[in-house]
Amino acid sequence: MEYEIANTPETLSGNFDPQDTVCSSLPDRGRKFTEPSRLNGGDRSPSVLRLHELRTSIAGRPLHRGISLSVDRGEIVGIVGNSGSGKSLLLKCIMGLLPPDDGVVEMFGTNLYSARDAELRRIASRCGVLFQHNALFSTLTVRENVAVPLRHLSGLPDDLLHEIADVKIAAAGLPADVADRLPGELSGGMAKRAGLARAIATDPELLLLDEPTTGLDVIMAEQIDSLIHDMAQVQNIAVILVTHDVDTLFEICDRAAALFDGEIVTLCEPRFLHKSPHPWVKAFLNARPRTLRAS
Ligand SMILES: Nc1ncnc2c1ncn2[C@@H]1O[C@H](COP(=O)(O)OP(=O)(O)OP(=O)(O)O)[C@@H](O)[C@H]1O
Ligand SMILES: [Mg+2]
Repeated sequence: MEYEIANTPETLSGNFDPQDTVCSSLPDRGRKFTEPSRLNGGDRSPSVLRLHELRTSIAGRPLHRGISLSVDRGEIVGIVGNSGSGKSLLLKCIMGLLPPDDGVVEMFGTNLYSARDAELRRIASRCGVLFQHNALFSTLTVRENVAVPLRHLSGLPDDLLHEIADVKIAAAGLPADVADRLPGELSGGMAKRAGLARAIATDPELLLLDEPTTGLDVIMAEQIDSLIHDMAQVQNIAVILVTHDVDTLFEICDRAAALFDGEIVTLCEPRFLHKSPHPWVKAFLNARPRTLRAS
């Protein structure tokens, strides 16, 4: 069963389009909204990312049962859900690593799973990815790790690659000396930031972030939130992030999607989450008194 918390236009994506097949998968989509985009001043360019009726299975077991969602330029969409609900595998499906049984993953207007290699390469050059467990190469230094996607996509000389990598390492809040360390010599929070530095290395237009603030102290988590928020606002980057961090959800996300039993059961601005009748969303919020105060 799906719930959409919307009686007013502002509870929907600023780019809501009644003709949009993604939006039409939610109930009560007959309402007309003609307001210009809240996020990009009315630019009607296609969504950076569009999922339509996505169905996946893992080890022969159905996992996602018709996921529809779109993310626009400059928008941050947070995905929440209980452990094992399929958040990370949804990101992997979006990354091209888990072919769906059915449905569409459309990135920059191209259907990912029917794209040719050259198109896939172009799409990959426009995306940045942070995996849940960072997936840093253990035998490469942090600087070399961050340079990997740059080297792969740009062919720039090493000294320039490393210069850019150092800028991204600083942007992710890491001290300069960390650049020469191996991943095994980092704390959990440092490794997370190194993974984030690598995700932003190529100045992506779409960022896929799996738990970007998990394991960070509160101050560092706020810095990372600010970095993500600024990238979305200033560079107009689309961000889809998986999080258990309710502060991240409420502070920087434009919309929240709650995943439960293979479906998006609630999709709305975070400030309207408390209106969701869905039991899991209620439990999620009730477990966090600070959130209740914030809303
Ligand atoms: N490679 C795999 N082979 C088989 N099952 C898998 C595989 N990867 C994940 N799963 C299963 O798929 C389900 C969804 O996993 P996923 O990692 O997407 O969960 P999640 O929502 O990200 O959880 P968490 O919040 O703990 O990270 C889980 O039941 C998990 O055990
Ligand atoms: Mg996960």
